[in-house]
Amino acid sequence: MTGKLQDKVAVIGGGEKNLGGLLATTFAADGAKVVVHYHNDSSSAENTVKAVQQAGSQAVSVQGDLTQVSQVRRLFDQAVDSFGGIDVAVNTTGMVLRKPILETTEEEYDQMFGINAKAAYFFIQEAGRRLNDYGKIISLGTSLLAAFTDGYSTYAGGKAPLEHFTRAAAKEFADRHISVNTVAPGPMDTPFFYPQETPERVEFHKSMAMGNQLTRIEDIAPIIEFLATDGWWFTGQTMFPNGGYTSR
Ligand SMILES: NC(=O)c1ccc[n+]([C@@H]2O[C@H](COP(=O)([O-])OP(=O)(O)OC[C@H]3O[C@@H](n4cnc5c(N)ncnc54)[C@H](OP(=O)(O)O)[C@@H]3O)[C@@H](O)[C@H]2O)c1
Repeated sequence: MTGKLQDKVAVIGGGEKNLGGLLATTFAADGAKVVVHYHNDSSSAENTVKAVQQAGSQAVSVQGDLTQVSQVRRLFDQAVDSFGGIDVAVNTTGMVLRKPILETTEEEYDQMFGINAKAAYFFIQEAGRRLNDYGKIISLGTSLLAAFTDGYSTYAGGKAPLEHFTRAAAKEFADRHISVNTVAPGPMDTPFFYPQETPERVEFHKSMAMGNQLTRIEDIAPIIEFLATDGWWFTGQTMFPNGGYTSR
């Protein structure tokens, strides 16, 4: 244990698997109690709760569709009920779609903006209400925010407002010393990434980064850990940890 988050409480949106799951055990190793939010995958959530406990800390899991504002509020209510307060709130939830604008339906648009923009907004709002002074709020964007590419209009477009939500919240919560940031990784080697891509495009994405490799969750977790601990002076920023990734 590093003890950097000793006696602190962390809420992780999408904390059951992939990047969120690794953050849960990383924060636990720093001494934090963890609230593991999940959407569909209760067995991953159970495993992550056990992994936090094995790391010597405490965890609870909370299910919720975070496109429903009432469920965002219930997540934070349950965190306070379980552990008495919240210090760190990380939202890793998101949904990806690669589809031309001319083929995108109204339902797809609403679903993509529901989880990537609306849920992210109300997660920040509730965190701003419920976090202790000196809290940390971190959202997950995508390096596509800095790219000029086709096919990702509703994914990159849905995540784009995060940069402005982050800046506004950083200003509005500064009087309570709460920092607010977005971390926007390059294409990351998790099951989230592959269904939208062809093998050729995966190779192309690898070729755009240092070392001919995709971003790994192990590359990103320490950056989020830094923002949640020693990096408290960063606020209102979007960071692009992407191994030099650029897109056409
Ligand atoms: N992998 C990449 O290439 C990549 C690159 C850059 C940025 N990112 C971003 O990094 C974050 C983590 O991605 P990841 O690769 O670790 O994949 P992931 O584990 O699949 O993360 C997405 C999470 O969002 C949850 N979610 C989806 N719809 C939801 C809803 N309506 N309500 C609540 N939760 C919902 C998913 O739960 P269910 O699966 O149960 O629906 C899942 O836990 C995402 O925000 C993603 O946009 C990913």
